[in-house]
Amino acid sequence: MSKTHIFANWKMYLGYDQSNILANQLANEFKKIPENLNIAVFANDLSLYSVGLALKEVNIGFGGQNAYWVDKGGYTGASSMVMLKEIGCQYVLIGHSERRHVFGETNHDVRQKMEAALQIGLTPVLCVGETQKERDEGKTEEAVEIQLRAALDDLKVGSETKIIIAYEPVWAIGTGNACDPNEAERMHGRVKTITTALLPDLEIPILYGGSVKAENVADYIHRENIAGALIGNASANFESFKEIINRVAV
Ligand code: PGA
Repeated sequence: MSKTHIFANWKMYLGYDQSNILANQLANEFKKIPENLNIAVFANDLSLYSVGLALKEVNIGFGGQNAYWVDKGGYTGASSMVMLKEIGCQYVLIGHSERRHVFGETNHDVRQKMEAALQIGLTPVLCVGETQKERDEGKTEEAVEIQLRAALDDLKVGSETKIIIAYEPVWAIGTGNACDPNEAERMHGRVKTITTALLPDLEIPILYGGSVKAENVADYIHRENIAGALIGNASANFESFKEIINRVAV
């Protein structure tokens, strides 16, 4: 049976000390990861190496929240996909809504990052989702499809290639206004149809993200097309992240 992915996006919520304390608390609490779960943490670049060391002990994965597609060079302020790989990351978030909307990342950037991540053997977690305006204008499917096509169309993949997608409606992120689970499931079905047409040989887990917490996580992960959750705020606190894991562990 395929595992449920519980992915924690700590964003810029935690500093170095706090990130390491939380990683060690998780490692102590979950010496044995529940068999039905695949857990991974996305820490800030400064904390990623030491967080990764703590999590490796217990088989919790880790990855970067962003990285540049060029390997090395004069790119002040950036870290590359190659650098994430060098410190042992398995994953990288690509095209998170905050990257797109706060930092102006384009579909073109996302595509470059997808190619660079796959090239170096990182599993990209491609984030897509519509804004409130797009939803209000009835353009939800169209907006998501444009993002998916830009990132995945004609992408060079092999039988070993792993890609994960997170459907995260922008209006649901960090707002407490989670997407209705039936609507999330409907959109996941749509995302699945599009990705299957673009990359027919790959089995791509699709995670839901946007105001997931302990109280609602089960409403999402038991749906046919929802393979797990990408969780921000509620994953950056030990008690709440522990509770989320305990609620979905079997
Ligand atoms: P949230 O963030 O859980 O705080 O809404 C989710 C995300 O941005 O990945």
